[in-house]
Amino acid sequence: MVGSNSLRTTIIFFLLMNLLPPSFSTSSSTIRTTDATSTTGATHRHRFSKVYAFGDSFTDTGNTHSITGPYSFGHVSNPPYGTTFFHRSTNRYSDGRLVVDFLATDLSLPFLPPYLDRSSNFSHGVNFAVAGSTAIQHEFFAKNNVTMDITPQSLMTQLIWFEKYLEGKGCRGNGPRRCRAEMENALFWVGEIGANDYAYSFTSSLSPNLIRELAVNNVFNFLQALLKTGAKYIVVQGLPLTGCLPLSMVLAPPDDRDGIGCAASVNNQSYTHNLLLQNKLRDLRRRYPNAVISYADYFSAHLAVMKNPTTLGFTEPFKACCGAGGGSFNFDLFATCGSPNVSRACSNPTKFVNWDGVHLTEAMYKVVSDMFLHRGYCKPSFEVLLSNKSH
Ligand SMILES: *[C@@H]1O[C@H](CO)[C@@H](O)[C@H](O)[C@H]1NC(C)=O
Ligand SMILES: *[C@@H]1O[C@H](CO)[C@@H](O)[C@H](O)[C@H]1NC(C)=O
Ligand SMILES: *[C@@H]1O[C@H](CO)[C@@H](O)[C@H](O)[C@H]1NC(C)=O
Ligand SMILES: *[C@@H]1O[C@H](CO)[C@@H](O)[C@H](O)[C@H]1NC(C)=O
Repeated sequence: MVGSNSLRTTIIFFLLMNLLPPSFSTSSSTIRTTDATSTTGATHRHRFSKVYAFGDSFTDTGNTHSITGPYSFGHVSNPPYGTTFFHRSTNRYSDGRLVVDFLATDLSLPFLPPYLDRSSNFSHGVNFAVAGSTAIQHEFFAKNNVTMDITPQSLMTQLIWFEKYLEGKGCRGNGPRRCRAEMENALFWVGEIGANDYAYSFTSSLSPNLIRELAVNNVFNFLQALLKTGAKYIVVQGLPLTGCLPLSMVLAPPDDRDGIGCAASVNNQSYTHNLLLQNKLRDLRRRYPNAVISYADYFSAHLAVMKNPTTLGFTEPFKACCGAGGGSFNFDLFATCGSPNVSRACSNPTKFVNWDGVHLTEAMYKVVSDMFLHRGYCKPSFEVLLSNKSH
């Protein structure tokens, strides 16, 4: 079903449109949390006063629209993005809040402002995540003819941004003592990263095995760089069930299904990726015994929801809430959420796991963040991480 070149091109195009940086737009830094005590149960108030986040569109709170580039046509600035909580687009790829937003609320901090928004107040942290980001450097994709005309930001770009940020505070390299202390007291939140690497190389001759090796190695090197600056509390998310996204369900052959009805080959790819990532985290824990490096098991959290959606409040585990009504998944590659023909979402996004065919709903992000922060889906658990932190 994906034999024709033109369809394959469109598929890639879709991923770029939806996962990649468009043009400049308004700041989301002025948004403050208003319900610090009411959302995900018990909160971990003021346990960290600073959070640094990294990742892709699952974690980006606005960097995507702070970038000008050749592909400045993304739909994320259009309705119905942001319809649920903010009541306007904040350049988040969801109807509302992301996991990193629920994290901020849990810690009684304001939402993390995007790094590229220069008007932001970074006194409680910075979000370096940018939609479309890859774990592997851009040059690699360029060399292998899989970039088309784009300038994707990688995890390395985010590290460079982070180092610039430190430099601006006089904290580059072996900075003053206060810098080290600040790093040691901050929480580093590394959102899922790597899904785009597989997506971009989908039509190339690059093997998933190679992508996995390179992507996980880059995450390893990135984490090591953070640890060298003094990072002591790090949460690293694995990949979710990428095979359950409507995009994957539509692209994979109908007989490519696993026990929960999702694209088996794609879920397997994420599963195998996560195994290697966890091996690398074990290695880092040995090298940095004073740091707490927690693995946020997105795969298991997502799986728990897909196995038991209704008990968690979801009646639509597979369908996208915002789509043009195509097929069983309310998903049409040629008319995606926010495009002129798709300006409305389902009336009850809280019942949907999936928002736009690729990204998840606020309701799902809320459930997942609760699992990470309160229900032991971080390993070691978030509670254990917090209990290690001396004030
Ligand atoms: C930034 O926020 C901090 C803490 O909320 C506040 O003390 C500080 O005055 C703010 N800085 C600016 C320039 O607004
Ligand atoms: C990329 O494309 C160029 C021009 O078509 C070709 O010469 C080169 O061999 C390609 N490289 C790879 C790695 O496929
Ligand atoms: C998953 O993929 C690996 C190779 O990456 C393969 O060896 C294994 O058999 C696959 N497992 C399933 C359940 O498909
Ligand atoms: C979108 O709407 C326009 C005009 O209403 C129509 O011509 C076009 O075919 C529609 N595209 C899709 C993919 O439905």
